[in-house]
Amino acid sequence: MEQTVEIKSKITLKPSRFGKKYFVKTFGCQMNEHDSERVSGMFELDGMQKAESEDNADILFVNTCTIRENADDKLYGTLGQLKKWKSQSENRKLLVGGCAAQKDKNLVRDKAPWVDVVIGTHNLTNIINLLNQSEDWGPVTEIIDEIENLPTDAPSIRESEFSAWLTIQIGCNNSCTFCIVPSVRGPEISRRPVDIINEAKQLVNEGVKEITLLGQNVNSYGRDLKIDNKSRPYFTQLLEKLNDIKDLERIRFTSPHPKDFKEETIHAVKELEKVCNQIHVPLQSGSSSILSKMHRGYNKERFLDKVDMIRSILPDVSLTTDIIVGFPGETDSDFEDTMDVIRYAEFDSVYMFKFSPRPGTAAYNMHDQFIPKEIIDNRFDSLKITQTDISERRLKRFIGTEQLLLIEKISKKNDLIYSGKINSGQITHIAKDNLNLGDLIKVKITDSTPFFLKAEKV
Ligand code: SAH
Ligand code: SF4
Ligand code: F3S
Repeated sequence: MEQTVEIKSKITLKPSRFGKKYFVKTFGCQMNEHDSERVSGMFELDGMQKAESEDNADILFVNTCTIRENADDKLYGTLGQLKKWKSQSENRKLLVGGCAAQKDKNLVRDKAPWVDVVIGTHNLTNIINLLNQSEDWGPVTEIIDEIENLPTDAPSIRESEFSAWLTIQIGCNNSCTFCIVPSVRGPEISRRPVDIINEAKQLVNEGVKEITLLGQNVNSYGRDLKIDNKSRPYFTQLLEKLNDIKDLERIRFTSPHPKDFKEETIHAVKELEKVCNQIHVPLQSGSSSILSKMHRGYNKERFLDKVDMIRSILPDVSLTTDIIVGFPGETDSDFEDTMDVIRYAEFDSVYMFKFSPRPGTAAYNMHDQFIPKEIIDNRFDSLKITQTDISERRLKRFIGTEQLLLIEKISKKNDLIYSGKINSGQITHIAKDNLNLGDLIKVKITDSTPFFLKAEKV
């Protein structure tokens, strides 16, 4: 008998690949990781099972990123290797999606005509249809400009049993001059609060203890929503509602944009018991003139004011940031401003990137102001040295303290060790002993390495 499966009544799949094995390879950020979980969900509804690696997969989905040039290079290198993968068996199917595919559909096709399906970020929910089409008619490319269904309409197979991503908003309405994201992820669309709350409850029913809310600019959440002609829902209200969900233990979110960061959100982090003591606030540069050329909507002083406000309300918060080194026109003194903020703010960790010109962005056209590679490399190294010191010092502050640890997985390097996170987000290792995955337990931090903490049960 033919079996049909309804997913939230929007997508109908006819399972047709029973017994086949799939594998998903993901590049890029949490948005892509979460999209990949949705693709896995659709593959499993179609009857496929997850393979241990691409070597024993019949169907391979590569989810691409294009945020920096090396992400593109990685993709084309990978596609080269995958030609061999595909030629090893006649029945293998290769699908390429994600941000690079959205940006470069013709390039992917030209460089890799052996790819069966090229699909964009806006129509992921059509992936099974496209796979069917490619089996009937040969290679197919479908990239569309307008979002059809949100990827959240599809089922999902999560990487972690206890921790889940929850998309509250897709796309971005900002125009940071270095950034390709708005052109590959489209305009900002907020999901309705009721859908988000229902998904969170559903996740809790499935055993999830921690959710991480995802959006490119979470504190502008709801800007595009008006419900029953009432004023829009705010991010803080969403946090309050999520905080009320019974049996949900932890709520994290990423990323807020410094320009839209409100004091009320910081109070919410302090007062709502489930919202974790951790804030990622992407600085990009400490120089007011570079920030203005980046179109970030704040300057050095305003950013420092936000740091002061955060620290005055949440003295012990874990603060993390992103920095781009070598934006066009960055002088030594601009870079010193960045170092200044780095020393002042004492971030727990900093994600550092060398400026990479992305075709189609405004900064790409600032050729005459590009900074020589050598200078960028030197600045990057000195930023790294300074921050490594700060990060190590920040991690050490936990030694001797008691913390709540959520045990999430077995350590990749040692299967006698569990790995998880304490409330403020630091990765923490603990001996397996009598503990179980999913336990949320009180531990004492005994030691730190440059990258993680070590703990024992109290
Ligand atoms: N929405 C987030 C950023 C998403 S992109 C925000 O507003 O901060 C993730 C990070 O990649 C950015 O914070 C930035 O530091 C980095 N990045 C984006 N474009 C880049 C580029 N062209 N070159 C180098 N780093 C870049
Ligand atoms: Fe890119 Fe800026 Fe949007 Fe972040 S806020 S995704 S950096 S355009
Ligand atoms: Fe993320 Fe890369 Fe796309 S950082 S939004 S996967 S371009």
